[in-house]
Amino acid sequence: MLSELLLTDMHHNSGAAALPLHRRLYEGLRRAILNGHLAGGDRLPSSRELTQDLQLSRNTVMAALNQLSAEGYLVSRVGSGTFVNEQLPSPRLRGRTGRTTHAGARLSRRGTALATQFTSAELEIQPFTPGVADFSAFPVALWQRLQNKHWRMSYPDMLDYCYSGGHAPLRRAVTDYLRVSRSVPLDMDQVIITSGTQQSLELCAQMLADHGDTVWLEDPAYWGAVKAFMASGLRTHGVLVDADGMAPTAADERHAPRLIYTTPSHQYPTGAVMSLARRQQLLALAQKHQAWVLEDDYDSEFRFSGPPISSLAGLSPDERVLYLGSFSKVLYPGLKLGYLVVPKALAPAFRQAHYDLNRPGQMPLQAALAEFIELGHFASALRKARHSYAQRRQQLLDALQPCLGPHAHISGAEQGLHLCLRLPTTVDDQALALRIAQQGMTVRALSAYCLQRSDAKGLVIGYGYATLEDIAHWGPVLASTVKRALAAGRSGKKS
Ligand SMILES: Cc1ncc(COP(=O)(O)O)c(C=O)c1O
Repeated sequence: MLSELLLTDMHHNSGAAALPLHRRLYEGLRRAILNGHLAGGDRLPSSRELTQDLQLSRNTVMAALNQLSAEGYLVSRVGSGTFVNEQLPSPRLRGRTGRTTHAGARLSRRGTALATQFTSAELEIQPFTPGVADFSAFPVALWQRLQNKHWRMSYPDMLDYCYSGGHAPLRRAVTDYLRVSRSVPLDMDQVIITSGTQQSLELCAQMLADHGDTVWLEDPAYWGAVKAFMASGLRTHGVLVDADGMAPTAADERHAPRLIYTTPSHQYPTGAVMSLARRQQLLALAQKHQAWVLEDDYDSEFRFSGPPISSLAGLSPDERVLYLGSFSKVLYPGLKLGYLVVPKALAPAFRQAHYDLNRPGQMPLQAALAEFIELGHFASALRKARHSYAQRRQQLLDALQPCLGPHAHISGAEQGLHLCLRLPTTVDDQALALRIAQQGMTVRALSAYCLQRSDAKGLVIGYGYATLEDIAHWGPVLASTVKRALAAGRSGKKS
C-alpha cells in the first residue's frame, strides 16, 4: 500500500531526516514514481486520505503534491483526482534526474536516444550506493587554504583559458604519480588535464573515430562510457566479460572496432581483473584492426588484496593505448578534474582540439591540486581512504557471508569501492534491487548495466559511502533479503 511505502521511506531514509516534512514526502513520492512503484496513469490517494494515513497536515501534503505537479510528475484531472503523468518514460529508460522533456519540445534522434536509452537510474546516496566515495573524509580546511593561496597569487594569465593541456605543475604531478604507481611510461607533454573521464572519452571519440565507426565496450558496461560514445555518433558493440575480463571472439571481430573501451584493472561493474593473456589478445586485436584502446583506470588507487595490477598502457610498446584517470574517487566527483594520457605523436592534435572544443580553464584550482599532490596530501588522503575502505569492505564481505554458496558468489572485491554479488539467472535482480531500495538501501542490479546479454544477474554493492556502523546494521538486512530471493528463485515462487 502506498501510504505504508511512504511511511517506511520517510522513516528509513536517514539522509532526509534534516529536511522539512513536505520535502520528505515529495522525495518519497518522487522515488516511488522513478523506481516504478507508481506507474504512469496510476491514481494517487486523495490529499485527504494521504493526510490521514500519513498523519501529516494538509498543508504539508499539498505542498509536496503541488511541487510534483509543477515538475510534471503528477497531473490533476478535474473531478477525477491526481494521477502519475503517463508521459514519463518507463523506469528502465528514465534518466538520472528523472527529468522529462518539455511537452512538444523536439529532440534530435540522438538527443532522444541520449535521454532515454541506457540511462543510469536515480542513485540515492544511502548505505551501499555503488560508485560513491566517503567525501566526509576530505580535508576541506586544508583544501580551502590552498585554494585561497592560489587565488591570492593568481596573476591574469591564470584566469585565462588554458592552452597547454593543463597547468604545468599539475601535469607534472600526474606524470610522476602515474610513472611510479601505475607503471605508465610517459612524458608530461602527453598528459592532458580534462574535466574528468566523460570529457576524456568524448575527446578520444571525436579525435580518433568518425561518425558511424564502431566502438567495443565491455558487456556489462559503464553507462557513462556508453553515453559518451552515443553522443559522438559511434556504433556501440558489447563484448562479453567473463572472469578474465573482456573476452572478444571471432564473431565480435565481424564488427571491426575503431575504439576499444575497457576497465581492465577492475571491470566496471563486475570487478573482473583482465588476465595477462587477455591483455595481450586485446592489444594484438587493436594492432590488427588499427584500433585504439581506451583504458579507464577509474579506481586502481584502492587495491586491497592480490598482486598489484599494472596498467595496460604499460604493456603497449606500440602506443595503441590511451590512459584515462580521474580525481573523482580519491578526492571528490564535483572537483571535475581528470587526466588523459595520449601517445606522443597525438599530443599536439589533442591539445589543440581540447582547447578549441572545450575551452579548458580553472587554473587556480589546478594549481591548488598540484600543490596538494606535491606536498604529500594526496598520498596521505589515499592512505587514510585505503585503510578505511579496507575495513568497510571486510565488514561487508562478512555480512554477505550467509547468502553465499553454490547459488551466489562475490566478484571484484579485491579493489575499488564496490563489489558484485553474482546471482543465478532465475533471480529478477531488478525487482530485488527495488525491494532493497524500499528498505532504505541502494544497490544496483547487474542486469541494468548489460548491453546485449541477458545472462548476468546480481547486485552491485558499494562500500565507499557506508560507515562501519551502517554496514553492521544494514549488512544483515541486505543479506537476509538476498537469501529470501534465492530461496524463492529455487522454489519458483515470487519472494
Ligand atoms: C567506470 C568509471 N569510470 C570513470 C569514472 C569517473 O568519471 P568522472 O571522472 O567523469 O567523474 C567513474 C565514476 O563513477 C566510473 O565508474
